[in-house]
Amino acid sequence: MQKIVVTGGLGFIGSHTVVELQNEGFEVLIIDNLSNSNIGVLDGITSITGKKPAFFKIDLKDKQKVAQFFKENKVDGVIHFAASKAVGESVHEPLKYYENNIATLIYVLQEMNKNKVTNFIFSSSCTVYGDADEFPITEKSPIKKAENAYGNSKQIGEEIIADVTKVKNLNAIALRYFNPIGGHKSIKIGELPLGVPQNLIPYVTQTAAGIRKELSVFGNDYETHDGTPIRDYIHVTDLAKAHVIAMKRLFEDKQKAKMEYFNIGTGVGSSVFDVIKTFEKVNDLKINYKVVDRREGDVTAYLADVSFANTELGWRSELTLKDALRSAWLWQEKQEIK
Ligand code: UD1
Repeated sequence: MQKIVVTGGLGFIGSHTVVELQNEGFEVLIIDNLSNSNIGVLDGITSITGKKPAFFKIDLKDKQKVAQFFKENKVDGVIHFAASKAVGESVHEPLKYYENNIATLIYVLQEMNKNKVTNFIFSSSCTVYGDADEFPITEKSPIKKAENAYGNSKQIGEEIIADVTKVKNLNAIALRYFNPIGGHKSIKIGELPLGVPQNLIPYVTQTAAGIRKELSVFGNDYETHDGTPIRDYIHVTDLAKAHVIAMKRLFEDKQKAKMEYFNIGTGVGSSVFDVIKTFEKVNDLKINYKVVDRREGDVTAYLADVSFANTELGWRSELTLKDALRSAWLWQEKQEIK
């Protein structure tokens, strides 16, 4: 049984990926420092799959601990999620973002290299395309200057990995996620934002639950069908499965280049109003919202061309916006019961 390390494995995307890896017969070792996750997620994963993944509470900034981990655990591949991800915060705390997202990546790659671990999947983002000019965005679309330290950390991260693959025994895939949402169908794991949510879907679910008074819709004067910005919302379970397929691609030596990049989205764009309407319909609820000014840094549209992921990676999304918004609400309701 192949052993996969999942850093940030108790986080939102990480935990869903652990489930899919275990379902496919991989043995999973989770590294997480619990800085933006909860140890209870381990029980959620275990109750879905019936297998408790090994858990290591390690902060990847602790170089010695990372070295010790790789020395003591013989593993076959690494999926690296652990990182900070709040776009706004990254503008005010750039050094935190470069330390958490770049320094830790370097330590992981160094120890992989020392211990001859050659398979690596990187959690990247559509944010690497910056304020894109053409839609849908393909993997060949230009990488424009990042708008913030978070986006820059993903661009730099990809470059570091690509440089390493040129000279060391490392095979890597960067998955560029569009907007991950939803939760596992069992409703045993989901998104757990700390504090006031910055992203649309958790704000919507918390508004529906009465935790937030009303949702602010950031602008309705964009050049879109209803004036609100368009995003490509991808169900987290579909996204998680892309990691399993990518890891198998590495193990089966199917790569066409030592470093590959894939867009992971649906190819379907939804506006903020589309999201609100769909959420209301599938859950039979009403959302209080008001339109306010645009949020600084928001772009009109982000939409993935997923044909390369479909044909070359052999992955395609199966779940819909409706599925995602239904599971997001069921998960939110469960938080209230607790
Ligand atoms: C951002 C980042 C992305 C990152 C993701 C998760 C960019 C371009 N994208 O995505 O890289 O992975 O966050 O952290 O930096 N909205 C509202 N009201 C709200 C919240 C959001 O109207 O209270 C709107 C936004 O204007 C946007 C859409 O909802 O049009 C989605 O916003 P959000 O969920 O924050 O994701 P992005 O900004 O697309």
